[in-house]
Amino acid sequence: MKINMFQRMIAGLMMSASLIAPTYAQDDLDNPAWFMVDDGMALWETPNGPNDVSLEECDLGLGAGVVEGAFAQLPRYFEDTNQVMDIEARILHCMETIQGRDLVDVLAKPYSNAGGPGTEMEALVAYVASESNGMELATPQDHPAEQAAYELGEQLFYFRAGPHDFSCATCHSQSNKRIRLTELANLTNDESGPVFGSWPAYRKTEGVVRTMGWRLQSCSRQQRLTQLQIGSEATTALEVFLAVNGAGAEITAPGYKR
Ligand code: HEC
Repeated sequence: MKINMFQRMIAGLMMSASLIAPTYAQDDLDNPAWFMVDDGMALWETPNGPNDVSLEECDLGLGAGVVEGAFAQLPRYFEDTNQVMDIEARILHCMETIQGRDLVDVLAKPYSNAGGPGTEMEALVAYVASESNGMELATPQDHPAEQAAYELGEQLFYFRAGPHDFSCATCHSQSNKRIRLTELANLTNDESGPVFGSWPAYRKTEGVVRTMGWRLQSCSRQQRLTQLQIGSEATTALEVFLAVNGAGAEITAPGYKR
């Protein structure tokens, strides 16, 4: 059938509209991240390591074994380590102390390659975060160490360095900005909430679930700096900064991104 001018025009318009406003997952059933949530739950409950125990006794901040609602209050201060820890640092801590595992393998490859099957860490983070879905982001600022982490995060966010003299703020401190077609939220105010609350997320361009730890590592690379390390003090501090700025937002994790 011959396509007439009018049909061509409509098709062109539809194409540009879908480029400008990509149709993201409308509900949970459209988001492949939920498969990772299932994998993560199974991993959480499966005995592992020399101690042959599961992670079910892991204390994510709300008491040993409580997963529901824990992600909404991370990163937070933990008395047993005397540290502010994010979700990834805490999972690593539980693998080491409860399961008795040597973390060399996990640390060698915490995040998968694009198109990969996903790592244990990605699945566990997806599961734990999903158990706070629909709740309010409520990262605590009660302990002095939590307040100090916020201050450090703020300093790092505005710290300019690298060959282009970029800081996080160079790309993330104004509203209504884009790079190409990607929206860049202002992470210095409450716009940060929906962003923080939507990670971990399935990245459709990569076909894998990505965590906030990965996102920050990847952005430090965009900043042309040494890559941030999983669960590090700097990563955690930046997360505290983002989460506290966005306090009160609804957690929609696992999210779905371009
Ligand atoms: C050179 C510009 C640039 C710099 C510098 C940069 N980012 Fe990003 N950031 C981006 C881009 C572009 C994206 C979106 C990437 C994508 O969609 O693939 C992004 C995405 C993000 C997101 C997820 C946003 C969302 O909507 O889900 C967060 C959080 C983030 N960056 C934090 C940071 C932090 C913290 C730093 C400093 C350590 C930083 N970025 C440095 C460009 C930058």
